[in-house]
Amino acid sequence: MKSYVKELAKNRNLPDKELLALIRGGVDELLEKEADKARKKVFGDRVYIRGLIEISSICKNDCIYCGIRCSNSKAARYRLTKEDILSCCRAGKELGFSTFVLQGGEDLYFTDDVLCDIIVGIKNIAPDAAVTLSLGERSKESYRRLKAAGADRYLLRHETATAEHYEKLHPVGMKLDVRKKCLFDLKEIGFQVGSGFMVGSPYQTDEHILRDIRFLQELKPEMIGIGPFVPHKDTPFGGFQSGSLELTLRLISILRLCFPEALIPATTALGTIAEGGRERGLQCGANVVMPNLSPKAARESYNLYDNKLITGAESAEGLKILEEKIKSAGYSMTMSRGDAPGFAKEQD
Ligand code: 5AD
Repeated sequence: MKSYVKELAKNRNLPDKELLALIRGGVDELLEKEADKARKKVFGDRVYIRGLIEISSICKNDCIYCGIRCSNSKAARYRLTKEDILSCCRAGKELGFSTFVLQGGEDLYFTDDVLCDIIVGIKNIAPDAAVTLSLGERSKESYRRLKAAGADRYLLRHETATAEHYEKLHPVGMKLDVRKKCLFDLKEIGFQVGSGFMVGSPYQTDEHILRDIRFLQELKPEMIGIGPFVPHKDTPFGGFQSGSLELTLRLISILRLCFPEALIPATTALGTIAEGGRERGLQCGANVVMPNLSPKAARESYNLYDNKLITGAESAEGLKILEEKIKSAGYSMTMSRGDAPGFAKEQD
């Protein structure tokens, strides 16, 4: 196992058999250490902060795992107005945030016109800030318009790169090929692109994970988000177990070694399944945290899964606490834009 870690650190890749063995391996201090070394070489001890704004819990889609799927009649539904969103950004800017991530369900209210107007509004308030969108599958023309309006980055997890598995997690009619096309369209248009998958989703096997890594190697995303699957009681997957902390951490380390330049978040889901989970994620190679800037009521209704960890950094005090946590994990918090190397407008 030790030689596999060394080889992965050196070549950023391994043949299938060896990579599978690493995915299956147990807790591995060397893997964690090498991943930390790789992130420090590119990013030093910096942890980038993104302000997350959950703009809508309304979704036309029906992903089996997700708490805001349209058939969940118990889900609390809300939609932020343009003014709500802009006030979050104004408050965030005051606190020093320089990336705003607008995430939401596939809510048809947010047409290209509506979104472009919001993006322009954010750029007026904070011209130097990056705008990241995480709003699901749209047409290439739509992505083009959003980019032209000023959006910088787009997050769209592929969820699983195995077609049969994809179909088990999604309603009839949703196809992996469509998801992949969206991702390649986003790349072509010039977005910094984020993709990723859930760890321990129902029916997932180690081979699926291997294929997820292979797909990411093909896509070459600037950002990679993975987090454990966490069941939501009002979905058909409510009875399944959460993905494990250990496997998620191991995969963060493996992904760091495969993608030394990637921005990898320590996700909310990781912090939800284990106390201190996000801090462990940082130690295993993650270098981004996305605290919530949504209004409190929205934050409590945006439930993709049960028991979501709610960390507010919408106050100076909340941000200070986060900074302390990052420090105690051995890193330093930075409020700079943190573009992917190659996209950086300025050195930060
Ligand atoms: N558990 C963990 N992650 C989830 N997501 C959606 N539902 C769940 C769940 N039950 C993730 C998906 C999606 C992202 C916004 O949230 O991977 O891409």
